[in-house]
Amino acid sequence: MCRVIHPGANAARIVNSVTPLLFVPSQQLRAFALSAWCEPLPIAPEELQQALAGERTKPGLLLDELGMALLMPGHNEPYRLPQQQITRRAQTGRPGELARACGLPQAKPSVLDACAGFGTDGLTLAALGCTVTMIEQHPIVWLLLHDLAQGIEGVTVQQGNCEQVMSAGHRWDVVYLDPMFAPRKKNALPGRGLQHLRELTSNQGAQNGPTLSELIELGRRCALTRVVVKRRLKDPQEPRAAFQISGKSVRFDVYLPS
Ligand SMILES: C[S@@+](CC[C@H](N)C(=O)[O-])C[C@H]1O[C@@H](n2cnc3c(N)ncnc32)[C@H](O)[C@@H]1O
Repeated sequence: MCRVIHPGANAARIVNSVTPLLFVPSQQLRAFALSAWCEPLPIAPEELQQALAGERTKPGLLLDELGMALLMPGHNEPYRLPQQQITRRAQTGRPGELARACGLPQAKPSVLDACAGFGTDGLTLAALGCTVTMIEQHPIVWLLLHDLAQGIEGVTVQQGNCEQVMSAGHRWDVVYLDPMFAPRKKNALPGRGLQHLRELTSNQGAQNGPTLSELIELGRRCALTRVVVKRRLKDPQEPRAAFQISGKSVRFDVYLPS
């Protein structure tokens, strides 16, 4: 069973004031259950295409029979989280770099996915048998993830700030950190999901937030076996990791508990 921990009053206020949730009639109950976090707006199926084609000035959400989707300014097509990519990654038969960095296949650890985003990494670990607690601070990203994770065994989704969660005295076998990489000037555009994540989270308290080194230190205090940090291949290794597992474009730096 997926346990969902709801966001606090502040998050509710932020989302409620800005986020419309279009829903088709069959999703009325689910939509109104979310009315503390967004503004449910019914839409007749025959009016949906027209509504999607209309100009949008701020992000919104759509709830239909396929689940929850993101509506971004400048895009007519709703964006749906890549459930199939997760299933594919989990079914390849051999654990990828992330799984190996987390200690699979020898162990099936409990994992704190402290910067969960759209959940591709955390849900892949859950599909491989880990128990995963996912923390996401952005309310819209959290709502999408919450919807995607409904009913998935061993997954808990929580809205909030991972510094607070890691300071609360709980322990996990593995703490996984994947905060947003800084955008690069020259490279090709990232995939649509990552572009949307960047747009949504770009003004998220970067100046006042903790540094990655501080997050790693917090993680080392609540990890029983390791802290795993996703980085670009050429990013500096700061602080020095115990070991690394590299893929084609990213690497996972592994730190031991303090
Ligand atoms: C690069 S994305 C994570 C992508 C994720 N690993 C995946 O597979 O989809 C980083 C996410 O971390 C979230 N985040 C950044 N700092 C955070 C914090 N201090 N607490 C909780 N979430 C945070 C951002 O809102 C963003 O959604």
